[in-house]
Amino acid sequence: MKDIEVKDLVFSYGKDEILNKVSFDLNKGDFLTIQGENGSGKSTLIKLILKDLKKKSGQIKLFDQNIEDFDDYTKIGYVPQVNDANKLAFPVTGKEFVVLNLYKKFNIFNRPNKKCYKKVHDIFEILNIENLLNVPFNQLSGGQAQKVMIARAMVNDPKILLLDEPTVGVDEKSKRDFLKLLAHLNDKHKISILMISHEMDVVREFSKREIRLKNGRIVDA
Ligand SMILES: Nc1ncnc2c1ncn2[C@@H]1O[C@H](COP(=O)(O)OP(=O)(O)OP(=O)(O)O)[C@@H](O)[C@H]1O
Ligand SMILES: [Mg+2]
Repeated sequence: MKDIEVKDLVFSYGKDEILNKVSFDLNKGDFLTIQGENGSGKSTLIKLILKDLKKKSGQIKLFDQNIEDFDDYTKIGYVPQVNDANKLAFPVTGKEFVVLNLYKKFNIFNRPNKKCYKKVHDIFEILNIENLLNVPFNQLSGGQAQKVMIARAMVNDPKILLLDEPTVGVDEKSKRDFLKLLAHLNDKHKISILMISHEMDVVREFSKREIRLKNGRIVDA
């Protein structure tokens, strides 16, 4: 079984095709990195997988199911890029920010219950960031904020993590630290990883497979 299967995927915003017959798989247990120049369509590809955009033609399968029939997005944890601009949008603590992603499990008053907070604690522990539970999100450093974003994606026990340029603006030491954490989740917690990055020098050390998006197609990295 494949976690993600993309076949002959075609997409355009206007008349120019951004993705022109893109095909690749994410196998169970994979740690796949997609690289490509600015504007090559990497984020677009992620948005198609998240159903934020609708493909023009081709096929996307998630856990062997056509994307049109798939709706259990708790199985796919999405880690968007954090920057200072969107960080300010969250004047809440790490704990409160992460627990919000468990909204499907909230009680009848639409509030998180004890179990929800326990889950958040457990995830922060796995990620070794218990010290960030009560820190306001907008006071975190780039690397810390990125880890809390992972916690947010992890809280529903996803099978896949999708990450869009997670290490941009993070210093070298924190970058390696962050990638090590991803490799750990991949290895020990059996989470498949699809990551977009162009920082291949560090990434290669941790990811298992690399491909490149070029002129709307996938080529070997
Ligand atoms: N909402 C939109 N409407 C029209 N064109 C768009 C839209 N979003 C992106 N594009 C265009 O589609 C192309 C691919 O954009 P995308 O964001 O997927 O690239 P990317 O590979 O993620 O780039 P980067 O490395 O800079 O993040 C670009 O030429 C971009 O200008
Ligand atoms: Mg992008």
